Amino acid sequence: MDVLVTGGAGYIGSTVASALADAGHHPVVLDDLSTGRAEFVRGRTFYRGDIADAGLVRRIVARHPGIRTAVHCAARVVVPESVARPADYYRTNVTGTLELAEALSGCGVHDLVVSGSASVYGAGPDLAVDEDAPWAPASPYARTKAVAEQMLADLAAAGRLRVLSLRYFNPVGADPWLRTGPQQPRPGHVLGVLADCRRTGAVFPVRGTDYPTRDGSALRDYVHVWDLARAHVAAVEHFERALDGRRAQAINLGTGRGTTVRELVATFARVSGHPVTVADAPRRPGDTAGAFARTDRAARLLGWHAERDLATGVADLLGWLDRRPAVLAGISADPVGSPGFPGSTR
Ligand SMILES: NC(=O)c1ccc[n+]([C@@H]2O[C@H](COP(=O)([O-])OP(=O)(O)OC[C@H]3O[C@@H](n4cnc5c(N)ncnc54)[C@H](O)[C@@H]3O)[C@@H](O)[C@H]2O)c1
Repeated sequence: MDVLVTGGAGYIGSTVASALADAGHHPVVLDDLSTGRAEFVRGRTFYRGDIADAGLVRRIVARHPGIRTAVHCAARVVVPESVARPADYYRTNVTGTLELAEALSGCGVHDLVVSGSASVYGAGPDLAVDEDAPWAPASPYARTKAVAEQMLADLAAAGRLRVLSLRYFNPVGADPWLRTGPQQPRPGHVLGVLADCRRTGAVFPVRGTDYPTRDGSALRDYVHVWDLARAHVAAVEHFERALDGRRAQAINLGTGRGTTVRELVATFARVSGHPVTVADAPRRPGDTAGAFARTDRAARLLGWHAERDLATGVADLLGWLDRRPAVLAGISADPVGSPGFPGSTR
């Protein structure tokens, strides 16, 4: 199957493209390389450009008439940046998504699998959240994801589209074969900070030690990025079934298990073979105890559950950070809007 993958040069999108190709599909990548890497689309059918460029989207679909489904991963994703530059986030994540959806449905591509985010959920007394849990997005980034998801559901209800929103919890790790991974040398998320502490010997601060969790530290549901990618393949292959009779369906993607910060540190130390020095620190303003996913719907509708544990995610991230400089050897980018690296897929 030909599948359009927006954001396919980014962390999650490139992993999804690999999983689709490994499963025998043909990912057609659209990415503006604003944070994505040209090295991640080497050997792929790749178009460099903006998701909001309707003309380009139409040209891509005309050139690949086998495209029936699009996986929409492209977005701006950095929470502090979204606080400083909210307009850029609404422009890409909301307006860009609208333009993309309109352009696609205008040329006969009506089925969208979309990167959703568990950041839309509010903090409840029970740390487990199902898809009907109340929403309380806490940052401009999270609000753009919430608005985009609701907007797509409205378009779906009007009959233009069918939408599967896959709400990721906390993605970790890298492609297990280390083809791709987080682009930055020092990923900003907690595992990246731990890796940095290992490198520099810095003390790792456990921020918040009085949360209502097993050991008082905050809790997250860390899901391996390859497991996420496999879920997208299942969503593309079983789109109709996953909709379960609706035109828009949301599905949590997590492991169903919460891991506290202290447990994460212990796993990191065990896998890396380096003890990490920690210091208790006060909560950060706005932080919550966290959440983990209820995953019954993913099991029922996608036949999916996470297979890789946190230790594997840590090992793959560390493997990727070692390999990253060799992969990101600096391929020069193609001109905007032109097809780059056309032809073969893996
Ligand atoms: N990484 C996470 O922790 C996480 C958690 C939940 C949801 N998500 C969602 O997953 C998706 C992918 O995130 P990621 O972590 O891989 O981020 P990323 O920055 O690695 O990937 C985003 C990709 O989109 C591309 N892009 C951005 N704006 C574009 C535009 N206007 N036109 C074309 N391409 C554009 C970038 O170049 C990049 O390759 C996003 O929708 C994000 O909201 C990510």
